[in-house]
Amino acid sequence: MLQKPRGTRDFLPDEMEQRREVEGTMRQIAGTWGYREVCTPEFEELELFTIRSGDGIIQEMYAFEDKGGRKLALRPEITAPVLRLYVNEGKTLPKPLRWFYFADCFRYERPQKGRYRQFWQFGIELIGVDSPMAEAEVILLARDLLTACDISFSIHIGHLSFMRSLLSGLDPDEQKKIRMFLDKKDTEGLGAYLSSMGMEDLLERLTALAESRRLDDVFAITGDLQDQDRIEELFSILDGSGLEYTLDPGIARGLDYYTGMVFEIFAENLGAENQVLGGGTYSLAHLFGGEETPSCGFAIGFDRVMVARGERGPVSSTVAGVAFTPEGRDWAITVAGAFREAGIRTELVLSGKSLGNQISHIARSADYALIIGERECELRKVTVKNLRTGTQDMLLLTDAIREVSGSESC
Ligand code: HAM
Repeated sequence: MLQKPRGTRDFLPDEMEQRREVEGTMRQIAGTWGYREVCTPEFEELELFTIRSGDGIIQEMYAFEDKGGRKLALRPEITAPVLRLYVNEGKTLPKPLRWFYFADCFRYERPQKGRYRQFWQFGIELIGVDSPMAEAEVILLARDLLTACDISFSIHIGHLSFMRSLLSGLDPDEQKKIRMFLDKKDTEGLGAYLSSMGMEDLLERLTALAESRRLDDVFAITGDLQDQDRIEELFSILDGSGLEYTLDPGIARGLDYYTGMVFEIFAENLGAENQVLGGGTYSLAHLFGGEETPSCGFAIGFDRVMVARGERGPVSSTVAGVAFTPEGRDWAITVAGAFREAGIRTELVLSGKSLGNQISHIARSADYALIIGERECELRKVTVKNLRTGTQDMLLLTDAIREVSGSESC
C-alpha cells in the first residue's frame, strides 16, 4: 500500500472543517486590523533563502533543480517571498503595508509531534514603518489572533540589541554559532563551545542576561544601549496596553534577518514543540534589490495551534438528508436545491432503496430527513422528520426550510 511522504499529513473532513473554522477566525481578525491577504509561489529561486543565511540552510530545505537547470526551493517560510513580492510589485504602494498570508511551508526536518515537513503558517508582515508603535501593533495582533483560537499561551519578548552588546567583540561566525545555541536553548552545547574558545566569563554574562526579567536588570548587564530609549518606549506601550508578557532577553531567533525586537509565543499544553509563533523586526528588502525597508511581522505555526486546541467535537451544522420514491425524483432534486440555496447542507440518498431503508440510512448522519413520496410530490410539499425528536410534519417547501433553518440558529 502506498503511503504519504514522511513528515506530511492527510486531513479527513472533520479535521478540515476545524482547520477552516480556525483559519476563518484568523482571517477575520487580521482583516479587522487592516491586514489584507497576499499569495506567493510555492517555490522560489533558491537564492531568495540563501542570500541572507548562506548555503548552510540548504540542508534544511527542499532544494532542487528544475528541467531547465534552475536552482529552486520549496518555501521554508514566507517572509522572504513576501518581501520579494514587495520589492517586485509593492514599492510604490502607500506605506505602511499591512499584509497577511496563510499557506504551507516545507522544511527538511526530523518529524515528530508538532514538527512536520509540510506545515502551514498564518503570518503577517507590516512593511515600511519603523517605530515602537508598529512593533507593539504586531505583538498585540499576535495576542488577539491566538486568544481567538481559544488556546492558553505565554508571550516572550526580547531584543537582539541585548545579546549583541555582549557579543560585539566576536567575529560574525562566532556570534552566529552562539545565537544558534541560544535559539535551541542548548546551554550545555553553549558552555562547551565557549570554554573551548576560552570564554567562560561570557557564558556567565549570557546566562545572567537570558535569565533577567526586568529591563533595569538587563541594562545593568549590557550597559547603555544605542537604542535604549526606543526599547523603553516599546515596553512602556506594551505595559500601557495591559498586555501580559515575559521579558525574555534570551530569545535569539533561528532566522538571520532579525534586527531588533524579537518575540516568541509558547502554548501551555504542548510538549517539546510548543512554540506556536515567532517573529520580530527585520530588514530584507535591500537584499532583494529594493531600498532598506524596516519591517516587522510574525508567523503562527497553524498546525501547532490545532494541536494545542486539542480534540473538539465536529463543527456543528444542520444536515438534511432527502429520501424519495422514484416518482418523487424531480421534486426531490428541486427541494434539495432550495434547501441548499438557504445554506443548509442537504444530501440526496443515492441508493434507490425503499423509503424506510433510506430514512434509516439518513438517520446515521443527518438531523432531518426530508421525505418525498407520492403524496408529497402531488401536493408539492415535503415531510420533514426531525431525527432528534422523531416528530414529523408535511409542510410547504418554504415552511419546511424555515423549520429546519430555525433549528440551526438555536
Ligand atoms: P519561525 O519561528 O521559523 O519563523 O516559524 C514560525 C512558526 O512556524 C514557529 O513558531 C512554529 O510554530 C511553526 N513551525 C516552524 N517549523 C515548523 C515545523 N517543521 N512544523 C510545524 N510548525 C513549524 C518564521 O518562519 C518567520 N518567517 C516568522 C516571521 C514573519 N518573522 C517576521 N515575519
